[in-house]
Amino acid sequence: MGAPPDDPLLQPFQLKHLTLRNRVFSSAHEPAYSVDGMPTDRYRLYHVEKAKGGVGMTMTAGSAVVAEDSPPAFGNLHAYDDSIVAWIRRLTDEVHEHGAACMIQLTHLGRRTGWAQDDWLPVVAPSPLREPAHRAVPKEAEDWDIERIVGKYADAAERMVAGGMDGIELESYGHLIDQFWSPLTNQRTDEYGGPLDNRIRFGRQVLTAIRARVGPDFLVGVRMAIEERLDGGIHAPEGLEILARLEVDGLVDFVNVIRGHIARDTDLTEVIPIHGMPSAPHLDFAGQVRASTGLAVLHASKVDDVATARHAVREGKVDLVGMTRAHLADPHIVRKILEGRESEIRPCVGATYCLDRIYESGEALCIHNAATSREATMPHELEPARRPRRVVVVGAGPAGLEAARVAGERGHDVTMLEAMPWAGGQIRLAARNPRRRDLLGIVEWREAELARLGVDVRYDVLAEGADVTALGPDVVIVATGGLPQLPFMEEGGERMVTSWDVLGGDATPTGDVLFYDDNGTHSALSAAEMIARSGARLEIVTPERMFGIEVGGMNHVPYARAFNETDTRITLNQRVKTVRPERGRLCVEVGSDHSEHRSVRHVDWVVTDHGTAAMADLYFELKPSSSNLGAVDYGALLQGRPQALERNPEGTFQLFRIGDAVSSRNIHAAVYDALRLLKDA
Ligand SMILES: Cc1cc2nc3c(=O)[nH]c(=O)nc-3n(C[C@H](O)[C@H](O)[C@H](O)COP(=O)(O)O)c2cc1C
Ligand code: SF4
Repeated sequence: MGAPPDDPLLQPFQLKHLTLRNRVFSSAHEPAYSVDGMPTDRYRLYHVEKAKGGVGMTMTAGSAVVAEDSPPAFGNLHAYDDSIVAWIRRLTDEVHEHGAACMIQLTHLGRRTGWAQDDWLPVVAPSPLREPAHRAVPKEAEDWDIERIVGKYADAAERMVAGGMDGIELESYGHLIDQFWSPLTNQRTDEYGGPLDNRIRFGRQVLTAIRARVGPDFLVGVRMAIEERLDGGIHAPEGLEILARLEVDGLVDFVNVIRGHIARDTDLTEVIPIHGMPSAPHLDFAGQVRASTGLAVLHASKVDDVATARHAVREGKVDLVGMTRAHLADPHIVRKILEGRESEIRPCVGATYCLDRIYESGEALCIHNAATSREATMPHELEPARRPRRVVVVGAGPAGLEAARVAGERGHDVTMLEAMPWAGGQIRLAARNPRRRDLLGIVEWREAELARLGVDVRYDVLAEGADVTALGPDVVIVATGGLPQLPFMEEGGERMVTSWDVLGGDATPTGDVLFYDDNGTHSALSAAEMIARSGARLEIVTPERMFGIEVGGMNHVPYARAFNETDTRITLNQRVKTVRPERGRLCVEVGSDHSEHRSVRHVDWVVTDHGTAAMADLYFELKPSSSNLGAVDYGALLQGRPQALERNPEGTFQLFRIGDAVSSRNIHAAVYDALRLLKDA
């Protein structure tokens, strides 16, 4: 069954001369896949996959930078370099071949970057006001800076025309153009500061120079904060006034609506809401903008499901609806709608691992789609196996679920055994924090896929070796996860409970609670958040130099809010050394790696998190009777060849373990282990 012909999302849209095949687009986002500022193969294949998957338009780059004194903050493309044109041409040609439109976002970051990279040029802004998020103190732009940068914008736009782009969008929220617009960042007293006419002068000069260079037919838009939501900042009437002036002068063809500002992480999460925050919070505002402008209106902000996207277009809130992270999770959204397979769309669960990783680790990855950005080696669509085999997967956490899904999709005969009466493993625990409930989508999507694929799922089976071999497997995947392990201590580790006990509801700490976080991941912070919110008096002690060291900036925000609101005390650079009973309470001795000094706390509970220890008894039981003795050929794994190690001629099956059954890692590592092993099995 195909999609209904009147589906609002599937209606074409005319943007001047450009016909978009549908209303769904992926908004600009810098995934940081560039190599030396160029959109090389990884970058290109990532966007081409969305085109193959039916998206109407993909807006590339998350602000390609137009000048050398706008050093990339997060792997931005170098639009100031002529050598980008050939790469852009390859990218646009391939996206166009698959029927999607392709545009690019250009910017000068102004103060929203750091100076200590690339060419070490000073950061420049309308006024020398530091941006909290990037911390660089900018120089105040001089006349020659302004002239130079205006020219750089026009040069970059011309390169994009030469590269075959359908249009460009100027980033104008938190970047140089709107740093001039906003009274909060523009304190100039010359002709670029003060009244609105002056504050919009720079932006107009940029757009006028671009128009002069690219002509009236090339599509030019702005992605702008119509309302900054800050006292003294741009308010909606002024934002609409700026937009109206640009429209009247024929400088722009479309507006991509932003509501809010991004100078601090807390504000960024309001513009790009993460899980636990409302869906599509600015959609009605986008609708108000659409009602007041003749320009085409685009908007993206946590529209992560098709029903909401459909509503956005049907109700006339937008002309094009952005589903940006949704496409990181599943680049084939539109194709699945067209083929009547909407229920098979892999959901974006809002974890925002993707965005956090561009700052923390320099590349966007989806928490539960290991193929995204690895299109050269990891398929989004799996090939049928040449030799269908009998696969037994033990454990239904994220690793096991993904292994069973991939094997099932490839046509293997799959049985999955799970000790608990349900699937999900540690994700179920994580989702006990109500704010992180959406993580269950990772599990539920796979459960539905396993049902569709006819995988035999058996719950309440605490599998031993004989249970597995009785199934006559050709391949056994052990994905039995891990159990909490205690940190090294001088005394009293057994007097502590773990974050799992708290998340799972087995322990409810009250009174004075000390949380010894020797892990720095979500499990620790999430349990601590639940304790803090329950009314206990909490102190978090960590040996690290910041709390939650493994959790990125966007996800840090709600934890920090919870700890702020509950007066939780956070102690850095300290380790718990001993826990001893004392008059019905616990006496905790705290020291550090930095000195011999120790201090003492008296509390009612000590909770800890030190990651997990692999639960691999079954693996070691099965190892002697396997043909590979559990060994993985890493060469074959990394080069995409099937596993063929033979170490035991008597062995009757191949044996592998994945996920936390190997070592304590995260959801992405678990699904990546599974995908790359099973895609070739
Ligand atoms: C990894 C990542 C990088 C982003 N970088 C940019 C950027 O450079 N410029 C921009 O305008 N928006 C950027 N965004 C924001 C997206 O364009 C979009 O507004 C946001 O993800 C909300 O839409 P969604 O809920 O559909 O994902 C980024 C988003 C992500 C996930
Ligand atoms: S990491 Fe989370 S927010 Fe980002 S695309 Fe994947 S599911 Fe969506």
